[in-house]
Amino acid sequence: MTNPPESLNDQLEALRRDAEGEVAAAQTLDELEQFRIKFLGKKGQLSQLLGAMGKLPPEERPLIGALTNEVKDAIQSALDSKKAALQAAQIQAQLEAETLDVTLPGVYRPQGRVHPISGVIDRVIDIFVGLGYTVAQGPEMETDYYNFEALNTPADHPARDMQDTFYLPDGNLLRTHTSSVQIRYMSENEPPIRIVSPGRCYRRDTVDATHAAVFHQVEILAIDEGLTFTDLKGTIKVFLQEMFGDDLPVRFRASYFPFTEPSAEVDVQWRGRWLEVMGCGMVDPNVLKAVGYDPEVYTGFAAGFGAERFAMVLHQIDDIRRLYASDLRFLRQF
Ligand code: DAH
Repeated sequence: MTNPPESLNDQLEALRRDAEGEVAAAQTLDELEQFRIKFLGKKGQLSQLLGAMGKLPPEERPLIGALTNEVKDAIQSALDSKKAALQAAQIQAQLEAETLDVTLPGVYRPQGRVHPISGVIDRVIDIFVGLGYTVAQGPEMETDYYNFEALNTPADHPARDMQDTFYLPDGNLLRTHTSSVQIRYMSENEPPIRIVSPGRCYRRDTVDATHAAVFHQVEILAIDEGLTFTDLKGTIKVFLQEMFGDDLPVRFRASYFPFTEPSAEVDVQWRGRWLEVMGCGMVDPNVLKAVGYDPEVYTGFAAGFGAERFAMVLHQIDDIRRLYASDLRFLRQF
């Protein structure tokens, strides 16, 4: 016969070992809760053992009671520490799962670029605005008067040959240069005038590596009392040095344009050779008369150049057609 108190003693110890073993092996909080119910719940194993206490002789009850409390505390503390460990592991797992990997590549958004022609025009405008000029624009569809006649280029003038253009059924034309903006602006404003006029121009040229039927020019015009060729030279030189670099050699060669007298062509020395970059001159008195200015009071200078040519020189582009091909592999270089 087993001694009942000893037997209860053993059973309590066995319960403690079982409980501690199972609790230690629990994998989840749910499982742990099941073990709590199994060992410490109202109908759990500890309660069942305690039911047997009533059968003990009164003098043994305190001893067993003390042992019961000890076992209960031990199981409870095993449950508590396992619960804390499982909760910590759960938080850790969640943190790992939700970690933000800042080294992952982001969402790619294609970035636009300024077209080299627009880039040149923007720079030119910046420089002239810095010199006190304002931007003036005119229409691409022009009348013969603004494009030629008022610019001292009457219908029979040989210079028209170089600027053959596209004529519209109503007799108007697509402007061959932005010089037309000079006339429009002067007709509506009084001196002093300082304008920079960028815009699209057209010519009936056969397209090749250096010619396009549609291209861009920038025109500048200054009218005031007492302006001389020196002012023209100084302005052009400052502009070209801003555009191409400080110690750029610049030279003026005598030339001819109907709307200027005297006229010059401007060359810059660029990578070892002289490049023609623009035309310029003192505004012809006939042009001033055409807009109602007194050439005895006012003088002025003008200049005009192609934005494509500047872009080609600056970026070493060998063929003007590349500027219009919309080939992204080409355009992404700028
Ligand atoms: N309009 C001329 C052209 O298209 C360029 C030019 C030359 C403009 C001399 C000017 C100038 O204002 O003075 O070829």
